Amino acid sequence: MSPLVELAAVGDARGRLVALEAGRQVPFDIRRVYYLTGLSPDQPRGFHAHWHLRQFAVCVAGSCRFVMEDAEGRAEFRLSSATQAILIEPLVWHEMHDFSPDCVLMVLASGVYDEADYIRSYDAFRKAVRS
Ligand code: TYD
Repeated sequence: MSPLVELAAVGDARGRLVALEAGRQVPFDIRRVYYLTGLSPDQPRGFHAHWHLRQFAVCVAGSCRFVMEDAEGRAEFRLSSATQAILIEPLVWHEMHDFSPDCVLMVLASGVYDEADYIRSYDAFRKAVRS
């Protein structure tokens, strides 16, 4: 699994600009953007996979740790810069841990919110990746 994507920044004395475009940095058409704020280090989130949804996550501020699992096994990735992203493909179990208090996690998604696309049971996820 290699979900980490490095993003180019355009920087000068005024600050940094990072662009995310469908078909360029983001390998799908973006149909939804959501972001998580007010996060805390002892309140992990996620703990699900999706049947079809593709997602692209960026810590636009702060940092967090992703635990991801696919058919090949489990791996951990840290997002600690606004120039890093994680691509979350379908049938990848993902958990987000260790949010810094200033963390703002922005997620671009290939589809609108659909609870039917979630696999929230770890056992059901394991069964789905085995078949
Ligand atoms: P969930 O995806 O379970 O959050 P996380 O993976 O960060 O722990 O979503 C939390 C709640 O928010 C759940 O009730 C569904 C709702 N929700 C929406 O209404 N729209 C969305 O785009 C998302 C991602 C979640």
